[in-house]
Amino acid sequence: MGFHFKLIGYPITHSLSPWIHEQFLERSNLQGTYKIDEFKPEDSFEENIKRLKNEQIDGFNVTVPYKQAIIPFLDILDDTARKMGAVNTVAYKNGKWIGYNTDGVGYVRSLESKYPNLFNNKENRVLVIGAGGAARAIYYALDQYEFSNIDIANRTKATAEGIIEMAHSPRRTEILSLEEAEKNAGSYELIIQTTSVGMKPNQEQAIISSNNIKLNTIVSDIVYQPVLTKFLRDSAKKGAMIHQGHTMLLYQGQYAFEIWTNKKINIGDMDTKLKDILE
Ligand code: ATR
Repeated sequence: MGFHFKLIGYPITHSLSPWIHEQFLERSNLQGTYKIDEFKPEDSFEENIKRLKNEQIDGFNVTVPYKQAIIPFLDILDDTARKMGAVNTVAYKNGKWIGYNTDGVGYVRSLESKYPNLFNNKENRVLVIGAGGAARAIYYALDQYEFSNIDIANRTKATAEGIIEMAHSPRRTEILSLEEAEKNAGSYELIIQTTSVGMKPNQEQAIISSNNIKLNTIVSDIVYQPVLTKFLRDSAKKGAMIHQGHTMLLYQGQYAFEIWTNKKINIGDMDTKLKDILE
C-alpha cells in the first residue's frame, strides 16, 4: 500500500533525495517509501530498467550518469524534458512511463519563494554563468518571464550558442566570455552561477570575481556544497542579496513529488533543516 518511489544513478549513496521525499511523505500524510537503487556502471542499464519497471513503483528520479540514457525506455516525454534532452523524474501514469525535467521549474520556484518581486519588474537584466545542463534548464524556465535580457557567460562561447538554438526564443541574448561577465557584472539585477566551480573540495574558487557586482543585485549559486560558496560570500560583501543552491534541490523535489502525487508540499522549515544537514 502507499506510494513507492526510487532514485537511480551512480554514485548515489550520499544523495539527499531520500531525506527530502521522506519529509514530503510525512508532511503530506501519505504512506510510502523512497529508496535509492544504485545502477552500477558495469551492469546492463537495460536489464536494470526492466527490473525496476517490474517493481510496481509509482515513479523514480534519475540522476547522473543516466539522465539521457533513460529516454529510450520511456513512453512519453514532457515538452521540457524533450527540449532539455534530459530526464530527472519519471512517473508511471495510466500504464505509461512519462519523463519530466524538474530542474528549471524547481530553480524558478526556489527563486520566487525568496525574491517574489524580482519577477514583477520587466526591466530586470539577468546573467546566467555556465552553459551545461543546469544552465540550459534555468535559461529555458526563466525565458517564460519578461526579463529585459537574459545573457549567458561561458568559458566556451560556442556551448552557450547551443542554449539559444534550443530555446528558440525571440529574446535577444548576448553571449559573454567570463572576463566580460566579470567586467559587466554591475549591469545585472540577477546573476546565476550554474557551473560546478566552487564546489567542495575546490571551495576556494569562484567562477568570476565579485568586484563589480552592485548593491542589491541578487546573486544565486546552484552549488550547495558548501552551502555558502566563495562566490556568494564575496558577492554578499559587495552588498548583493544571495540565493543558495540547496533551495533548488528542495523545490525540484517539490515539483517531482507534485507530479507523482498531485500534492504541492510547503517547504517551510525544510530549508533550514537541509542547511543544517549540509553544514
Ligand atoms: P551540468 O550538466 O551539471 O550543468 P556540465 O554540462 O558539465 O554540468 O556543465 C559544466 C559547465 O560548467 C560548462 O558551462 C563549463 O564550461 P565549458 O562549456 O567551457 O566547458 C563550466 N565549467 C566547468 N568547469 C569550469 C571551470 N573550471 N572554469 C570555467 N567553467 C567551467
